[in-house]
Amino acid sequence: MKAVLLGYGTVGKGVEKLVSTVDGLDLKAVFVLPEFENLPYFSNDGEGLVTDPEVDIVFECLSGTEPSNTLIRRALEAGKHVITSNKATVAPNLEDYVKLAAENGGSIQIEASVAGGIPFLDAVLKLQKLEDLNGFEGIFNGTSNYILDQMQKEGQDLDTALKAAQAMGYAEADPTNDVEGFDVWYKTVITNMLAYKTENGGLRQPLGISRITPEDIALAKKEGKVIRHISRSLQKDGKYASVIAPAFLDKDEYLANVPSNYNAQLIYADSFDKIGLFGQGAGQMATAQAMLANAIDTLENSERPILLEKAMQPDDSLIQETWLVRSGKDLSSLPAARVKEGSYWLIGPAGADVIDQVQALDPEAMIALWR
Ligand code: HSE
Repeated sequence: MKAVLLGYGTVGKGVEKLVSTVDGLDLKAVFVLPEFENLPYFSNDGEGLVTDPEVDIVFECLSGTEPSNTLIRRALEAGKHVITSNKATVAPNLEDYVKLAAENGGSIQIEASVAGGIPFLDAVLKLQKLEDLNGFEGIFNGTSNYILDQMQKEGQDLDTALKAAQAMGYAEADPTNDVEGFDVWYKTVITNMLAYKTENGGLRQPLGISRITPEDIALAKKEGKVIRHISRSLQKDGKYASVIAPAFLDKDEYLANVPSNYNAQLIYADSFDKIGLFGQGAGQMATAQAMLANAIDTLENSERPILLEKAMQPDDSLIQETWLVRSGKDLSSLPAARVKEGSYWLIGPAGADVIDQVQALDPEAMIALWR
């Protein structure tokens, strides 16, 4: 089969390296934006490449939503098998992509868009075949985990650790998406859809790690906790709830022991209780291999179908947690609020809508899960 590659950044270059190792797969051309270097093998004609009758597979590794979204649509309309790592374009458009693939005889495969090199979505798609999943939680952003790890183990400040993560190629082009949780927001939107076989019912705004200070690190140490950035999602009786936030975890918990820039996930269902995955959720070759694994599924005609047959709605009350808040404001009107010490409050157990209530009283508060 012949393939084209859209995008020649970190992941795209990794895909180029790996394509030549797969029997039966040839890379015909690479689409790059006009401002980039134009070598013979490169083209600025994205629409021409993705509708080329000789081409079967389109690897999409551009960042952002355009021209990615337009090119993915054109490719699917032309019946191609599209393999993408681009969570920002998959999250808001997956329903359309699935329909276009079904109507035109192609496919959409998105393993690399969530958790990079870990076959997490593959596991989700396999495990939801038999029974409804009860939920999932995990560390989905290598940059945030690396920063928190460096802050807690080495006493580094956030900016120094972020610069190191950028130098290692983990961070997004705009690292705001990493430290404010938007990268994990896209990944959680996608995983909710696949895990619960539903159209996108929405997801509350994330809480990132940008408000974690040395004071918070000191509290965690004193209390035997480790701070991680997690996404937690539950589903019950046709509804789901998701929260993305820093979490003060007991130091013996599985997710507390995920070091450096690694990611890890837990998937929950009645039959197996929980299944854990661990690995590299970012980086050139880890992410590229996930895309090539999808391509091999296409070569073998064994792609996992994505079914979005339900229209589920979020229900914040499903997530009942104790929340740690650092705020100088009086929060005593909130559900089961008590002062922990100094400017720290413990609130709940309460649903995720308590986040809105805290932010109404103090928009600058540091809010985290307390386990
Ligand atoms: N910036 C992301 C991370 C890349 O650090 O995990 C993978 O999505």
